[in-house]
This record gives sequence, C-alpha cells and structure tokens, in this order.
Amino acid sequence: MPQLFPKGANALPILSLVGALAGGVVLVGLVWYYFSPEYTDVGYAPEQPVPYSHRLHAGELGLDCRYCHTSVERFAEANLPPTETCMNCHEQVQTQALSLQPVRKSWAEDTPVEWIKVNFLPDYVHFSHAAHVNNGVGCETCHGRVDLMDVVSQVEPLSMGWCLDCHRNPEEQLRPDEAATVMGYEHPADFMERNAERIAREGIRPPLNCSACHY
Ligand code: HEC
Ligand code: HEC
Ligand code: HEC
Ligand code: HEC
Ligand code: HEC
Repeated sequence: MPQLFPKGANALPILSLVGALAGGVVLVGLVWYYFSPEYTDVGYAPEQPVPYSHRLHAGELGLDCRYCHTSVERFAEANLPPTETCMNCHEQVQTQALSLQPVRKSWAEDTPVEWIKVNFLPDYVHFSHAAHVNNGVGCETCHGRVDLMDVVSQVEPLSMGWCLDCHRNPEEQLRPDEAATVMGYEHPADFMERNAERIAREGIRPPLNCSACHY
C-alpha cells in the first residue's frame, strides 16, 4: 500500500500544496475586499472629454450647483448641464481655448458633450435626489468638497450599509435646506437637537424597509 502522506522529502509537495491553498484563500479574501464597493468605487475619477473644473467654476467663480444641475431639487436624477449653459459664458470667455474645442464642436453640431458618469448605483436601487436635497441632505454629504475638485471623484462608497447608516441616524447628518449646496458647511453646536426637533416636526423618516430602495 503506498503511503498517503509519505515521510521526509516526499512531504514537500504536499506542504507546498497546503501553503498554496492557504495563500489562495488569502488572495481570494484580498480580491473580495478590494473589489467590494468600498474599494472599487471610492476614488473613481474618470478623465472627461473636456477638462472642466469644479474648483474653478463652483469654487473660485462661486457658481451655485443648481446653475448647472438644475433638476436636483425636483427630480430623482441630477442632470448634467447642456452645452448651452457653458456657452452662456464661453461665447465671450476663452473663446479660442483648445480645452474648449469639444464644447464649441458640440454647440456647432448640436450634439451633447459625452460626459462620463462618475457615481453609480446598480439598476435595482431606487434613489431620488429631490427626496434628499429637500430633506436636509447636502450635496457635500454624499459628494464631498466638489468645489475643491479639478476632476470629480467618487468620495463615498454608495453601498447599502452607507445608505442605511444615515437612514438610521439622520439627526447626525442633516442641515437646513438653504444650505443644501453650501460647501464646507459647519454645523452649529446644537445641531443635533435642532435636527431632532425638525425630524419630529416634519415627520422625516428615512426608510429602512427593503422595498423602499428595491422594487
Ligand atoms: C458650470 C456648470 C457646473 C456647476 C456650477 C457645477 N457643476 Fe457639477 N458637473 C458639471 C459638469 C459639466 C459635470 C460633468 C463632468 C464632470 O464630471 O466633471 C458635472 C459633474 C458633477 C458630478 C459628478 C456626476 C456623476 O457623473 O456622478 C457631481 C457629483 C457634481 N457635478 C456636483 C456638483 C456640485 C456639488 C456642485 C456645486 C458645488 C456642482 N456640481 C456645480 C457642471 C457643473
Ligand atoms: C458663469 C460663466 C461660466 C460658465 C457658465 C462656464 N464657464 Fe468655463 N470658465 C469661465 C471662466 C471665467 C473661466 C476662466 C477664464 C480664464 O481663466 O481666463 C473658465 C474656464 C474654463 C475652462 C478652461 C479654459 C482654459 O483652457 O484655460 C474650461 C475647460 C471651461 N471653462 C469649461 C466650461 C464648461 C464645460 C462649462 C459648462 C459645463 C463652463 N465652462 C461654463 C466661466 C464660465
Ligand atoms: C444622499 C446622497 C446624495 C445627495 C445628497 C446628493 N447626491 Fe448626487 N448622487 C448620489 C448618488 C447615489 C448618485 C448616483 C445615482 C445613480 O447612479 O442612480 C448621484 C449622482 C449625481 C449626479 C450624476 C447624475 C445622476 O443623477 O446620476 C450629479 C450631477 C449629482 N449627483 C449632483 C448632485 C448635486 C448637485 C447635489 C446637491 C444639490 C447632490 N448630487 C446631492 C447621491 C447624492
Ligand atoms: C446623509 C443621510 C442620507 C444618506 C447618505 C442617504 N439617505 Fe436616503 N434619505 C435620507 C433622508 C433624510 C430622507 C427623507 C425621509 C423622509 O422624507 O421622510 C431619505 C429618503 C430616502 C428614500 C425615500 C424617498 C424616496 O425617494 O422614495 C429612499 C428610497 C432613499 N432615501 C434611498 C437612499 C439610498 C438608496 C441611499 C444610498 C445610495 C440613501 N438614501 C442615502 C437620508 C439619507
Ligand atoms: C436605504 C436604501 C436601501 C435599503 C432600505 C435596502 N437596501 Fe439593499 N441595497 C441598497 C444599495 C444602495 C445597494 C447597492 C450596493 C452596491 O452597489 O454595492 C443594495 C444592494 C442590495 C443587494 C445586492 C447585494 C449586495 O450586497 O451588493 C441585496 C441582495 C439587497 N440590497 C437586499 C436588501 C434587503 C433584503 C433589504 C431589506 C432588509 C435591503 N436591501 C434594504 C440600498 C438599500
């Protein structure tokens, strides 16, 4: 009968096989970890067809977010601006800039600039900007300091756990609706009490039931 686990030198291949399996488990663990939503998406900052800078336009020039993202308070989706919005200024400013060539082409040919989407939810998740922006959740809470970004990146995981963290304890996050688009917002010292009052007064109850977010 051949021995199943031979002694001495013959044990080496088995040991290395065991080692490889253990290593494999660690590798799978790492891959799992890094490819979980926290790691695949946060920091995602695709190069855009035009080097449009929020730092310049929303930061230095101080344009309000709603000047371009006009639908955020009314609809589920936050629209991107049409080329016309850019041309309001760029028919007069930087009319020859190479960086704006694709915008002029889009305007001349009446075709949209093909901006690349940064933040994603899977199709099976229901999300509405209006429901959040009108209930005290600021852009900054979910998108970070966009006014400091030359290139927009995703700053929050947008995972189910992340949504639910706030839905369970909204008093820790809400701000007055007037401050929805303010960047670098600082809560007053008593904001938790104010939020608790507002939540009770307006009956703000972020849903925890599955069917609210998943049909
Ligand atoms: C002058 C127009 C303009 C203004 C003002 C503006 N944006 Fe944008 N925004 C854009 C354009 C164009 C894009 C698409 C290109 C890009 O991602 O940089 C965009 C993209 C974004 C995205 C990424 C969308 C995605 O694909 O996930 C976010 C988030 C965003 N803007 C938030 C803001 C916030 C917050 C403000 C206010 C502080 C703001 N924007 C002000 C024009 C504007
Ligand atoms: C309210 C006016 C205004 C609007 C609206 C506006 N811009 Fe600008 N943009 C400016 C100003 C001012 C500058 C800086 C000009 C300078 O530095 O000489 C600028 C600079 C730029 C530059 C850099 C040009 C260069 O090469 O130096 C790009 C690219 C640009 N804008 C893209 C856009 C896009 C795309 C939109 C629409 C989504 C847009 N802008 C909307 C006023 C505006
Ligand atoms: C509660 C979190 C949250 C708040 C508050 C929020 N956003 Fe978003 N935003 C998201 C998520 C999540 C997505 C991706 C949606 C999708 O793919 O369906 C997104 C996508 C976007 C997009 C891309 C277009 C779209 O709708 O997919 C823009 C532009 C944008 N947000 C701008 C803004 C602006 C401007 C504000 C503030 C007025 C804001 N957002 C407030 C979470 C938020
Ligand atoms: C920072 C806090 C915060 C975060 C983050 C947040 N929410 Fe909410 N959510 C709220 C508040 C506040 C309301 C309003 C509740 C009300 O109207 O009573 C709300 C309402 C909702 C509603 C009910 C309104 C509607 O559109 O039908 C849904 C669905 C929802 N959120 C989904 C999401 C999803 C999906 C995410 C993550 C991608 C998310 N939320 C992230 C605070 C948050
Ligand atoms: C506040 C909104 C919200 C609620 C409530 C919610 N989900 Fe989710 N769920 C999400 C989001 C956002 C994702 C997408 C996560 C991602 O992209 O990684 C998700 C993803 C999922 C997935 C896909 C697997 C995964 O983890 O990526 C399953 C399954 C799921 N949810 C089941 C449920 C069940 C069951 C409930 C009720 C107990 C529930 N969800 C309640 C927002 C919600």
